[in-house]
Amino acid sequence: MHLTNEEEHIYNGKNGWAEQISMKILARLGDLFDADKLIKINSAHISGVSYKTLGDAPIEFLKALAEAQGKVKIRTTLNPQSLDKQYLRKRIDPKIVQRQDRILEQYDKMGITPSLTCTPYYLQKPEPESHVAWAESSAVVYANSILGTWTNREGGPSALAAAIIGKTPNYGVHKKENRTPEVMVNVETGLRNEVDYGTLGILLGKNLKEKIPVIQGLKRASRIELKQLSAALASSGMTNMFLQKNGKKKYKLEKISVDAQELKRTRESLSTYSKKPDLVFVGCPHCSKSEIQKVAQLIKSKKRNDTEFWVCTSCHVKQKAVEQVKTIEKFGGHVLDSVCTVVSWTEELGIRTIMTNSAKTAYYAPTLNKAKPILVPMEKCVQTLTKG
Ligand code: F3S
Repeated sequence: MHLTNEEEHIYNGKNGWAEQISMKILARLGDLFDADKLIKINSAHISGVSYKTLGDAPIEFLKALAEAQGKVKIRTTLNPQSLDKQYLRKRIDPKIVQRQDRILEQYDKMGITPSLTCTPYYLQKPEPESHVAWAESSAVVYANSILGTWTNREGGPSALAAAIIGKTPNYGVHKKENRTPEVMVNVETGLRNEVDYGTLGILLGKNLKEKIPVIQGLKRASRIELKQLSAALASSGMTNMFLQKNGKKKYKLEKISVDAQELKRTRESLSTYSKKPDLVFVGCPHCSKSEIQKVAQLIKSKKRNDTEFWVCTSCHVKQKAVEQVKTIEKFGGHVLDSVCTVVSWTEELGIRTIMTNSAKTAYYAPTLNKAKPILVPMEKCVQTLTKG
């Protein structure tokens, strides 16, 4: 990958170790993927924030970067951590809390916005056709496919390096010629709700691997349903984007069909428990204001049974939905900001079964939470929580 004179100086240490190591990470990545040059980016989004998924080893690297005056040059946001600021914090071993705080301190020193959400586009919508370096896979697919923003699927270290340099290697879907579909997907059955869209995502992710699909049959999808599709697609496969077939445009591509039977089989494979769950969870990816409104509407004037209920979102969205949050909390639910079930300490809290409307959570729960999932739409989640 070609480096300009200035970039080469940074590579050789002119601006100190933090920028030097960041430039080296980007140069290595660029060489690996045959990038021609570095391009400027408008924002970065960092994964590797939850202590549960990150572990101890990378903390020293983050500390070294912060101590070497590593500072981000562009707007940079953070993925969820493993605790919220109130409810879970009190229930978790203080040693874990301390370690989690240490991670956040390093990011803070580097000038990163503590957004602690996987839906950074609800805080600030990125410009269409602008280049960004985002590491949260669900947000990557949503950005490329729905927002029209261009980003590869970064790892935590490469997104951080890109934030410190303000640039990313020009390869993958940063290039227009790599944003064309390779497979035509024909959805032969009606998709009824967010669970069906998420299930479709898991099914396609497994079959497509890295290929970009153009999907026929999404015409009536809402943004929330497309968010579920994006998150699930990114969980079971490496596809970074999808296109929606509109109008009569013909594609001469390899074809895949998805029928009702296949969708049902996939949905059943994601839902392996059928009794009363330990936890009902909504908010993967993090809820928008409209989703919180919907939860509040569904529980209004209902009485909760003793099942634990979490709604996860960002601090930003929570502050915009004050009334709805009150309704959910009065009902006995917990609106947890800055965290999500998958990257939190559910096992330590004795949670063994999770009901959710998110196919991504259902996909990861058996491995990351050691929990059996039940995948049902939001309405059913709420029904399970209510008495009578
Ligand atoms: Fe977000 Fe956690 Fe799901 S980070 S996409 S809510 S697994």
